[in-house]
Amino acid sequence: MNTTVAAADMERAIRARKTELGDRLVILTHHYQRPEIVALGDLRGDSYELSKLAAQTAAEWIMFCGVHFMAQAAAVLARPEQRVVLPNHDAGCPMADMAAAPDVNRALDDIARLQPGRRVVPLAYMNTLAEVKAVVGERGGAICTSSNARQAFDWAYQRGDVVLFVPDEYLGRNTARQQGLNEEEIALYDPQRGALGGCSERELASARLVLWGGYCHVHTWFRPEQVDEARRLWPGCQVHVHPECRTEVVARADGAGSTGYLVRMVEQAGPGSTVIVGTEFNLVRRLALEHPDRRVLPLDRSLCPNMARTTTRHLLNALSRLPGLAPIAVDEAQQRGARLALERMLEIGG
Ligand code: 13P
Ligand code: SF4
Repeated sequence: MNTTVAAADMERAIRARKTELGDRLVILTHHYQRPEIVALGDLRGDSYELSKLAAQTAAEWIMFCGVHFMAQAAAVLARPEQRVVLPNHDAGCPMADMAAAPDVNRALDDIARLQPGRRVVPLAYMNTLAEVKAVVGERGGAICTSSNARQAFDWAYQRGDVVLFVPDEYLGRNTARQQGLNEEEIALYDPQRGALGGCSERELASARLVLWGGYCHVHTWFRPEQVDEARRLWPGCQVHVHPECRTEVVARADGAGSTGYLVRMVEQAGPGSTVIVGTEFNLVRRLALEHPDRRVLPLDRSLCPNMARTTTRHLLNALSRLPGLAPIAVDEAQQRGARLALERMLEIGG
């Protein structure tokens, strides 16, 4: 059997299994998934939209085609009788692994000690482990995504004087710029750099925003010169990027936002336009296929290997093993705090 026939057979088997399970099953797909996975899903979205959908669905089984932290957040928000499944457990996120709960606790204690009498509010990006979300929830903070980072900053500064933002330095820095914070008010805390995350006492004592030293290798790949080059090659083009990109890249773009924002920008650009998109390549490739009447080009080919780990074979295998398949489990000790933090994110809105 050649591979095309095998792929067609697998797709047919997936559709048959979906029909069998009916509304007991919902398949959620993140915008970065392979095109064939997106086509087999029921609902697609950015990470904010998907957690909202996961919290609202009545389905017994939530098949989450994305990476581990996304499925874990859905499991935290799910009702006790619901089960969340990730088709390939090897689909992680290196950035989410850059922050561990004990280090985040230590950073919050360091800031509180050096800024006595001032309230520190932790904000964590959705791209974090449940243990970090739990610390953030228990210590009065919230989760955000790139859809609502600005609103989350407003929310945090209404409640405190100093914000610790974990783990994406660039989303934090790009949002801080929009909020009008200046460089002198920002400290960079990286537990790998030793005591006080490599900051001086003075830096940490005067910071209004403390950023974690984490990053996404898929997005820090893009360079400001690539934006200049795209504008030279395609005069009149629009450039839109994800806010996990470096500050210099975001500063040169026409706009930055979540994957949902990038989809909307391409949809709104209109026939005949040229849109350069600075984000994961699978999404840009799909947008180009879906909009043949406009030119949609990647700022560069940058692929998230973890998002690509979910294949048709993994999806079929997971569906065939339901209901016997082990769902995503969240440590009971982390469930309460993580849920608090995620519910605050949904209250903040997107
Ligand atoms: P969105 O929240 O924009 O969907 O992004 C998730 C992500 O992992 C980006 O790298
Ligand atoms: Fe993580 Fe970056 Fe992949 Fe998003 S694109 S899942 S942040 S590695």
